Amino acid sequence: MRVAVIGAGVIGLSAATCIYDQFHLTVPALEIEVYADRFTPHTTSDGAAGLWQPYLHDKGNAQERFWNKETFDYMLEHLNSPEAQEMGLFLLSGYNLLTQPVPDPPWKDTVLGFRNLTQRELELFPGYSCGWFNTAPMLEGRTYLPWLTNRLKMRGVKFFHRKINSFQELMAQGVDVIINCTGVRAGQLQPDPDLHPGRGQVIKVEAPWVKHFIITHDIKAGVYNTPYIVPGSKLMTLGGTFQVGNWNEESNSQDHRKIWQGCCQLLPSIQKAKIVDEWTGLRPARSKVRLQREVIHHGNLQAEVIHNYGHGGFGITMHWGCAKETARLFGEILKDQKLSKPPRANL
Ligand code: FAD
Ligand code: BEZ
Repeated sequence: MRVAVIGAGVIGLSAATCIYDQFHLTVPALEIEVYADRFTPHTTSDGAAGLWQPYLHDKGNAQERFWNKETFDYMLEHLNSPEAQEMGLFLLSGYNLLTQPVPDPPWKDTVLGFRNLTQRELELFPGYSCGWFNTAPMLEGRTYLPWLTNRLKMRGVKFFHRKINSFQELMAQGVDVIINCTGVRAGQLQPDPDLHPGRGQVIKVEAPWVKHFIITHDIKAGVYNTPYIVPGSKLMTLGGTFQVGNWNEESNSQDHRKIWQGCCQLLPSIQKAKIVDEWTGLRPARSKVRLQREVIHHGNLQAEVIHNYGHGGFGITMHWGCAKETARLFGEILKDQKLSKPPRANL
């Protein structure tokens, strides 16, 4: 059984890990291959701040809520393991600030210690009238992706640095199941009018005196289009922009100015932070994550594809739940194939 995962961001690597973990003992000759034209540290997942935080409103999507929660639980389990440091995993507390009241987010009981801000806390942040405080895991892509990659390589998973131009290309090579984790560029393999780039430019700075995240929200400006500050293990991420439809991966001075001024206004000591890097990534924005099976035909060839893309600004937040679901769908394919293929005659 040959399985090809396209994509080596957090979604592809975690899907490959879950499939390996669940099936390597029971599926004879299971071969997992990962194909990507960008590997760590050059994927979108590498530049993400890494905070577990879904959007404030998930449009009532119960499945996505469940995958977020599964990912949170996976992170908490690993926090108490000696591997947490090698994974890039730690807890971070901080503030979400709002200019007008909104209902509590659906994930308030998932995060640790969720509470509304006191008047004294709000006085620290002029211009914001409400908000909340909570603790959540951070999982930094730049550390987590190499950790996942090394584990997969040690288990015999093969990696290929290559752009895939069509599913048919892999089918012609004899691949049985394709796992499509191509993020924002999934539309190049199969048109998807619901998938758009959500361009995010950030500034990475050294500011070791800041110990809390501060994320601001303005319903009119849209998600992550207002200032945010997320401290990391070494560098802090300053954001944010969320420009739908903008494919430009270059950072520009106009967005730099907007981010810098916004963050300095939010926390004036940022003026003293040392700028270390500038980074722009494209969030795979979609009305909901596409995580489903599809059978693809090419001449007399046939392959199963599992699509797993469209995680917007919450790919780290949701990745493990989606990886488990991908493995479950893979299990369904195995069952269906057993039913449809006649048993082999005894030789
Ligand atoms: P990617 O990481 O982009 O990986 C896609 C992979 O597919 C790459 O390896 C690429 O080479 C490969 N690929 C694509 N097409 C092909 C092809 N045709 N052939 C071969 N390979 C192909 N999320 C959070 O949960 N928390 C955060 O704090 C957070 N902060 C963010 C901050 C910013 C500024 C941005 C932009 C995003 C942030 N996100 C955050 C969102 C998160 O980064 C994404 O949801 C996540 O990285 C998507 O992962 P992915 O694996 O689908 O995509
Ligand atoms: C972002 O997409 O920019 C983002 C997501 C989660 C936390 C912080 C930033």
